[in-house]
This record gives sequence, C-alpha cells and structure tokens, in this order.
Amino acid sequence: MPATGGSLSAVHPEIRLQGISLLYEADGSTVLALDDLNCRFAAGKVTAIIGPSGCGKSTMLQITRGFMQASRGTLSFIGPDGLPMPRPARMATVWQSFNLFPWRTVEDNVAFGLEMAGMPAVERRARAREALRLVDLAGFEFKYPGQLSGGMRQRVGMARALVMDPDVLLLDEPFGALDAQTRLVLQEQLAAMVERTGKTVLLITHSIEEAVLLADTVYVLTARPGRVAAEVRIDLPKPRSVASTHDPRYAGYFEQIYGLLKSEVLRSMHGEAEAG
Ligand SMILES: Nc1ncnc2c1ncn2[C@@H]1O[C@H](COP(=O)(O)OP(=O)(O)OP(=O)(O)O)[C@@H](O)[C@H]1O
Ligand SMILES: [Mg+2]
Repeated sequence: MPATGGSLSAVHPEIRLQGISLLYEADGSTVLALDDLNCRFAAGKVTAIIGPSGCGKSTMLQITRGFMQASRGTLSFIGPDGLPMPRPARMATVWQSFNLFPWRTVEDNVAFGLEMAGMPAVERRARAREALRLVDLAGFEFKYPGQLSGGMRQRVGMARALVMDPDVLLLDEPFGALDAQTRLVLQEQLAAMVERTGKTVLLITHSIEEAVLLADTVYVLTARPGRVAAEVRIDLPKPRSVASTHDPRYAGYFEQIYGLLKSEVLRSMHGEAEAG
C-alpha cells in the first residue's frame, strides 16, 4: 500500500480515551451509546475494537475523529515525547458506509483529500492511481461509485484514506464487504504497511480472525452501552500474514476473544428480547 508522503513530517501519536460517555438525544428519547469507556491506542500500533452490533463502536470512532463531542470524558493525543499534543492534522478514516461522492469518478474520489490539500492535478492523479493499483482497482479510475460492487467501493474508500499517508488511520469495518480472498490480501497488505510506516491504527471489526491477525491489542466491548469488557494483548510475531493463523497461540487468542464476545452478544440479544 502506498507510503505516499506529504511535506509534513510524520508524527504518530498515542490516543487516549478516558471516561468517555456518549448520550444520543433525539425526538425526546435518549440512548446511552458509550458509558465510561477507557482505552488507549498505542503509537504506531494497531488496536482493534470488537463488540456486539450497536455497542457504540462507530460512535467511538466519530469521537476519536473529532466529528462528535463526548458527553463526558476526555480524548487526548500524546506525542513521542510523552506530552499531550494537538489533534494530528493527518487523520484518515475509512467509514463503514464508504461515504464516496457519487458524482465524482473513482480517481477523483481517491484524490479528493489531495485536492483539498492543494496538490497539483498531475501529482494527485499519479498518487491516486498508485493507491488504486494497490487495492487492485487499476482500470476503474473513470468509473463512478454507482458502477461498482460493494467490495470495490470499500476498496476505493481504503485507497482514499491511504493516499493521504495519514499519521492516524481510523478504520470502521474496512473489509466487511469484501470476499474472503480479497479480504486476506488486503489484510496482509495493511499489516505490512503498518509495520513499515508505524502509523497509529484503530480498526473496528466484527471479525475475530481479523482482530487477532492484525492487532497488537484487542479491546472487547460490552453490549450497549459500550465499555471495555477486556483488553487482550496479541503477542504473535511480525510481520503477520495468513501463516500467523497457524501459530499455536492464534487459536488461544481466538477462543479467548470468542468467549468474551459470546457472553456480550448473548447479553445484548437478551436485552433486545426484553425491550422488544
Ligand atoms: N444519531 C443517532 N441518534 C440516536 N441514536 C444513535 C445515533 N447513532 C447511533 N445511535 C445508537 O447508538 C448505539 C451505538 O451506535 P453505533 O453506530 O456506534 O454502534 P456500532 O457498535 O458501530 O454498531 P455496528 O456494529 O452495527 O456498526 C446504537 O444503539 C444506535 O442505535
Ligand atoms: Mg458501526
């Protein structure tokens, strides 16, 4: 995946969420999405978040991105010197719903952020093409999002984030719409890219396999309101690849996370049955 550099030097911060709560209020009703959430996304590492549907994962990403203000708690960025720093300018997100501009071509979607940053057309086109090649979408530059499958749109979203060479990469189920093989290839590429560039990565996923394969730390969240049920360190050697799944420890991590998740999913189903 591209390590297309900007002119700013890279600063990969640690991100801390302390006592984060978020209450949605709409139409006279309220939903407590997050309740006293505490977690830490280590600099240059991949932190995965896994939890039952509706437990507040995307909400947490919106707060981290700065698009939503927590009702309570603090979000902070810690620089390499261990001191608080401002929100990094270069954060990129792959949204769960792709969020592509339907009226722009694939290439112009990928190049959008570069255009906003004032990069000349020739250079941004070259970078967009390189990013598209890396997500295996060469030849689709002039298509529109409506002409692509869900998996292809998701890869456009990934290319659009990577082309920015962000310091912080926030991924909301980035591989959810992909077929199993493409997913594995892109997971391996992401692992290699993170290893090479040391970006701070937050990966929201529903896949235990993906969390164990890619992450250094996995947070398992409770059913809504989301809080941390467990923090699991993944000590598999790097670089990770499909072969990592044959490591004897892999199955242990999988089972541990599955066990934690299962009880939360059952709890949330029970809660829904009572509410419904
Ligand atoms: N704008 C909103 N107004 C009111 N409630 C909302 C809003 N957005 C989300 N919610 C509720 O907050 C809770 C958390 O939503 P969120 O999208 O963060 O969950 P999630 O963990 O990302 O779910 P999924 O795994 O299905 O993507 C859900 O119960 C959802 O219905
Ligand atoms: Mg979500």
